[in-house]
Amino acid sequence: MSISLERLRRCSIAVDLGASRTRVYLKRTGLIVDEPTVAAVNTRTGAVIAVGAFAERMTGRTPDHIRVVRPVAGGTVVDIAMAQRMLRLLLGNKLRRAWRRKPLPSAAVCVPHDADPLAQRAAMETLAGLGAKRVELVDTLIATAVGCGLPVERPEATMIVVCGAATTHVAVLSLGSIVAAERVPVGGETVDHAVIQHLRNAHALMLPTQAVRPLHLVLGDTALASLGAEVHGRDVATGLARSVQIDVEGVRNAIRTPLTGILDAISAVLRRCPPDLVADLADRGIMLAGGSAVLPGLDTLLREATGVPVNIADNPGVCAVEGLGAMLEGKVQPHVLSSAIT
Ligand SMILES: Nc1ncnc2c1ncn2[C@@H]1O[C@H](COP(=O)(O)OP(=O)(O)OP(=O)(O)O)[C@@H](O)[C@H]1O
Ligand SMILES: [Mg+2]
Repeated sequence: MSISLERLRRCSIAVDLGASRTRVYLKRTGLIVDEPTVAAVNTRTGAVIAVGAFAERMTGRTPDHIRVVRPVAGGTVVDIAMAQRMLRLLLGNKLRRAWRRKPLPSAAVCVPHDADPLAQRAAMETLAGLGAKRVELVDTLIATAVGCGLPVERPEATMIVVCGAATTHVAVLSLGSIVAAERVPVGGETVDHAVIQHLRNAHALMLPTQAVRPLHLVLGDTALASLGAEVHGRDVATGLARSVQIDVEGVRNAIRTPLTGILDAISAVLRRCPPDLVADLADRGIMLAGGSAVLPGLDTLLREATGVPVNIADNPGVCAVEGLGAMLEGKVQPHVLSSAIT
């Protein structure tokens, strides 16, 4: 996947279609959409009745004829028509105003580093269906590294760990290219499932996925964690609503298990890197990005296991679309990015 900064500068919007959130950056305006990649559909009429945050709130609370769907899975658009309808509704007339000035514009979209031709085609078709004349594909890892402000153009190694909803990508970049990259099926959703499973086993409590996030906040705050946390769910046996005081350490351990998969990916990437670049990483450390970068204990786990400094990007969830935005605005120097190799 080669990147042409010249062509990217001609694009007017940048889109990051994630499994969990959709982000859109409009040139000279900034981030205009940051909403869950969710649509609620009336199965009787086929009409989309809600998108984004409102549709996500409906998850698990809908009658039989309303289905909550996610048109993107694992970084790939799996339902092109639904993704287009969702994007159209999320953008509303924000885009119409900008595109009226310039009909048939170009758009940039980021796709996972290891996206196959079918996944690349799906991303292109989604944007083409919205009226884009040309669609430029950019490797999410490069866009994220630029968005984190990493000096990707220099002949020294930088390691980036992008922890998303369903997957985590680990990569080492140098001279604007990817030297080695690895993907593991571990992300925020995997961790949420581990927490739900733990509460089911340890407290016989069924917890809805949406109730896990407040628990993360408690775990991330040492003062709050020492007080313990009360969660409300449904008793596995009786089916009645019940509250329990959870054991904070038990939940922390449950989270740690899936996160160790990320360590395996880091070792695999390091094994494929030339020794000179590995030596650079000891000084520069690891940059953590993606929405799940703030998962409680992830940075400490990586720091302890690798012995190198670990930094969390400012606003880790939007790094990819902000990086893409920087390329659209011409803030990235032409020699920075050439092409991505495995
Ligand atoms: N404050 C937080 N604490 C814990 N987890 C969080 C927090 N904010 C977001 N997350 C998790 O981050 C994940 C979303 O990350 P991100 O926005 O990078 O996903 P995405 O880009 O849609 O997914 P992908 O890149 O994997 O397709 C969700 O699983 C969510 O649970
Ligand atoms: Mg993402």
